[in-house]
Amino acid sequence: VVADLREKCETPVSLLHDVAAAMAHEMAAGLEKEGASKVKMLLSYVDKLPTGGEEGFFYGLDLGGTNFRVLRVQLGGNEKHVINRESREVTIPPNLMSGSSSELFGFIAAELAKFVADEEKCTNSLNGKKRELGFTFSFPVKQRSVASGTLVKWTKAFSIDDAVGEDVVAELQKAMEKQGLDMHVAALINDAVGTLAGARYYDKDVVAGVIFGTGTNASYVEKADAIPKWEGELPSSGDMVINMEWGNFYSSRLPVTEYDQDLDNESLNPGEQASFCVKDNIYEKLTSGMYLGEIVRRVLLKMSLQASIFGDIDHTKLKTHFLLRTPHISAMHHDETPDLKIVAEKLENNLAITGTSLEARKLVVEICDIVARRAARLAAAGLAGILKKLGRDCNAQKQGSVIAIDGGLFEHYTKFRECLESTLGELVGEEAAKSVVVKHADDGSGIGAALIAASQSQYKSVE
Ligand code: BG6
Ligand code: GLC
Repeated sequence: VVADLREKCETPVSLLHDVAAAMAHEMAAGLEKEGASKVKMLLSYVDKLPTGGEEGFFYGLDLGGTNFRVLRVQLGGNEKHVINRESREVTIPPNLMSGSSSELFGFIAAELAKFVADEEKCTNSLNGKKRELGFTFSFPVKQRSVASGTLVKWTKAFSIDDAVGEDVVAELQKAMEKQGLDMHVAALINDAVGTLAGARYYDKDVVAGVIFGTGTNASYVEKADAIPKWEGELPSSGDMVINMEWGNFYSSRLPVTEYDQDLDNESLNPGEQASFCVKDNIYEKLTSGMYLGEIVRRVLLKMSLQASIFGDIDHTKLKTHFLLRTPHISAMHHDETPDLKIVAEKLENNLAITGTSLEARKLVVEICDIVARRAARLAAAGLAGILKKLGRDCNAQKQGSVIAIDGGLFEHYTKFRECLESTLGELVGEEAAKSVVVKHADDGSGIGAALIAASQSQYKSVE
């Protein structure tokens, strides 16, 4: 089983170059015409990124990662820094992820109202103005303006039917009114877009904002006149930030195994047809935190059923979907104790597998390695695809290209991150690698959301 898995998950450089080229090709196709590519290339209506001149108090709401966050930021204007930042993280009750739209937005608005109620000191600084909010909503949204957009579909662990096709800003605004919260949603953004904006605030060489967390996605700045599907007046800046929604990327070169195929078929968002070529969000299912642990679990189950590698065990837990999480496989993969004590612990605590042999534990580490390495190498190929589209993939450029990345997988899974970075170097070559930098975007989209809200503020022109 392991040898077969290793072979099927192989990602030689030639394959990765093909994947990068396919990504660049799909990007162009997605810009050309609505529906022409699985990579949606959604317009964000963000036509300028932060300048550093943004000033005042702004709020951020961040929904779509592991936690839901509310935050308030005080931007310092020309001093170009964040004077103050306060935030609160809340876990979304799992039942709300598949309930109704009004329940979810009601919960969010209530948490926001609590946060606001606790901050009397700041109300003085509002000078009679309405509070303004940047809403990071990390799902595919079709926007018609920077402050409105309808949900295309849910991804990751969310599935709330009556929200699909609805304007999520209107839903939030309605829920806030019910809470008596007088706040204005100035911008609706994706987390990848927020990450780009936040990172660009500190470093003008940032060309893309990318998430490797529960899900995965990327955004970058495109020339507006290079977007054939754009209708209407071109923005004066000449630029448009694109929310790629690359989790839905598909190429026949992706090394998809039977485990991925089964995972896709049994997921909340399976490909419309259960055929081998129509898959939904398959790139995300190969490269992001929500799925890596689950792939490993499926392999372990097969090995246990077919080869009894764990002896005679009760398979109830090992058969439970999503019981083995990516943080668990990360801990096992990084286990450096001589007898793989951490692996033993994780197997016991999470899957009720006890008394494992060292041999079996070594196999477990090897499987984590195969699955995480494939993810990281494919992730690097995606980044190389963006650089290719931007013409920054070969030879050292005068100007650096910084790719700002956030998300739990990138932040906490060291071997994933190291492998991603070294593979990107391999793909762009030694010369170009000198001007390409991958860096962790510390605040994710928090500051980014506030900055975009600031640049869209309704009070801007009267200041
Ligand atoms: C955060 C961003 O830092 O990272 C979120 O602000 C984003 O918008 C998140 O969704 C992704 O992280 P994870 O790992 O929790 O999915
Ligand atoms: C999923 C969402 C996307 C988001 C990404 C990272 O792919 O569809 O909008 O940016 O996860 O959170």
